[in-house]
Amino acid sequence: MRFHTRKWVKPEDLNANETLFGGRVLAWIDEEAALYSIIQLENKKVVTKYMSEINFTSTAVKGDIIEIGIEVVKFGKSSLTLNCEVRNKMTRETIVTVDNIIMVNLGDNGKPKPHGKKKVEYVRDRLAAEDQ
Ligand SMILES: CC(C)(COP(=O)(O)OP(=O)(O)OC[C@H]1O[C@@H](n2cnc3c(N)ncnc32)[C@H](O)[C@@H]1OP(=O)(O)O)[C@@H](O)C(=O)NCCC(=O)NCCS
Repeated sequence: MRFHTRKWVKPEDLNANETLFGGRVLAWIDEEAALYSIIQLENKKVVTKYMSEINFTSTAVKGDIIEIGIEVVKFGKSSLTLNCEVRNKMTRETIVTVDNIIMVNLGDNGKPKPHGKKKVEYVRDRLAAEDQ
């Protein structure tokens, strides 16, 4: 799993227990999944369809640095299934995992559209291929 994004836990990210608010982490995960999918599928019109069980195993406090990891579970026809882990950057302790996040590639009509992708691609490789 590659951890692309870091976040700094700020006062506005805390719950009444003074620990990281779950809803904030879910928003971060959803955005990360969307960014990852948009880049992989080369389409800005990608939406979150489904998230499996969300398991909070530890928390974070103000000032902690966390990082968000994403990996592909499966390329479907119009869907992309992702797996996510959020962990403490310094201790590597897992904060939350989401086993399956289903993202759906949409056409201009807002309906599912086949994306034609079968494997993870890197932007640098796409750019290098364009240069050849
Ligand atoms: C996303 C949306 C267009 C899908 O429409 P739909 O009619 O349910 O689409 P389909 O049944 O054809 O499913 C599309 C794909 O998602 C997969 N899928 C749908 N529901 C699923 C579920 N509960 N679990 C796993 N996969 C699911 C299907 O297997 C299919 O994958 P494939 O094309 O790779 O085989 C529609 O449900 C929608 O607009 N939902 C709201 C999305 C949204 O607003 N998200 C929040 C903001 S981003």
